[in-house]
Amino acid sequence: MILVTGGAGFIGSNFILDWLSASDEPVVNLDALTYAGNLQNLESLKGDQRHIFVHGNIGDADLVASLFARYRPRAVVHFAAESHVDRSIFGPDAFFKTNVMGTLNLLECAKAFWDQTRGEEKERFRFLHVSTDEVYGSLRFDEAPFTEETPYRPNSPYSASKASSDHAVRAWFHTYGFPVLTTNCSNNYGPYQFPEKLIPLVIHNALSRLPLPIYGDGLNIRDWLYVKDHCEAIRTVLQKGTPGETYNIGGRNERNNLTIVQTICGLLDEWVPHEAGPYANLIEFVKDRPGHDRRYAIDATKIRTQLGWEPKESFETGIRKTVRWYLDHPEWVQGVLTGAYREWTAKQYGSLRVAG
Ligand code: NAD
Ligand code: DAU
Repeated sequence: MILVTGGAGFIGSNFILDWLSASDEPVVNLDALTYAGNLQNLESLKGDQRHIFVHGNIGDADLVASLFARYRPRAVVHFAAESHVDRSIFGPDAFFKTNVMGTLNLLECAKAFWDQTRGEEKERFRFLHVSTDEVYGSLRFDEAPFTEETPYRPNSPYSASKASSDHAVRAWFHTYGFPVLTTNCSNNYGPYQFPEKLIPLVIHNALSRLPLPIYGDGLNIRDWLYVKDHCEAIRTVLQKGTPGETYNIGGRNERNNLTIVQTICGLLDEWVPHEAGPYANLIEFVKDRPGHDRRYAIDATKIRTQLGWEPKESFETGIRKTVRWYLDHPEWVQGVLTGAYREWTAKQYGSLRVAG
């Protein structure tokens, strides 16, 4: 039995689906179902006894302690977080509540449980904290990719909150010997990503013939990883990682935002051509994100050489699967376009109309 937090979100739900397709080990999924959490992602597990969903907050000490007492998980895989940089600029509070204080509560409850275990149960327990490459700050175009030794320089409220949680997790290992693992991953894309993030937003807007907003000059670079490769990396770290260590995860797929958007437009031109002309005509350059990091890139040598993980998808194969998935699941997209989504896009994009 493992305890997953945030398993109704984008990466967490992909992780649970992959986990249960590869093994019969049950998953307790603790998720607060914020705007980003969606049980539709796990629809295929309806009635499956191996998935136990618990609607609740990682900051709820009584609830979290009761889950440890009842299920005695052998591991925690901690995804739950506020994850959208733009939202963190408007409202940092929720980010510090969940990402810092929520993680602290989870650590405390997990450690209290671990303290009273003995023998093999104690030996094999792991707390895997899922984090981001954004904690390392921004790279110049000529700088080498982030390694696990790169100093932390978070630049957004989101990345500052994730950096704080990473530090807490590290401290629990050094102070208490609590068996933690931390992963710092680059930008994910794939099925079930909420359409506030660049790739699903662009697919959705393009299909609705609405502007494709690109911040600034469109030359900011991210290192894109197909979500299923990330899930496999997490399973690998859980199985083979050394407690107290951190592992960078990335796809060796650096692309600037303009290239990403043009690639999506090209695939839509191929699969759903529109009489009005190429989808790229919908591109609009808009005001830049404040404090917008210029470039992220991951050096994943450590996880490759020490644990044997490598991504299976290139950006070209992963983006084809992703665009195809959104074309084939219009009902999923419609299901997440709630009033809250419309409120968000009105606030973020103002007069520029964004589908919702
Ligand atoms: P997401 O926003 O899609 O999902 C977050 C999930 O956490 C949602 O289901 C939400 O309901 C849940 N949640 C939020 N606050 C909660 C709380 N207080 N208690 C319980 N559940 C809560 O996020 P994601 O993109 O799937 O990211 C998952 C994790 O991976 C995050 O920790 C994020 O920092 C990290 N990460 C994301 C990326 C990426 O590209 N998306 C890359 C690297 C790391
Ligand atoms: O690097 C890992 C991080 O990747 C994760 O930790 C975060 O949780 C995840 O949200 C993601 O952060 P980004 O800020 O990089 O992702 P986002 O999809 O918001 O933006 C990707 C790039 O696209 C970024 O340079 C900003 C730009 N962008 C984004 C949106 C939403 C645009 O140009 N226009 C947009 O409308």
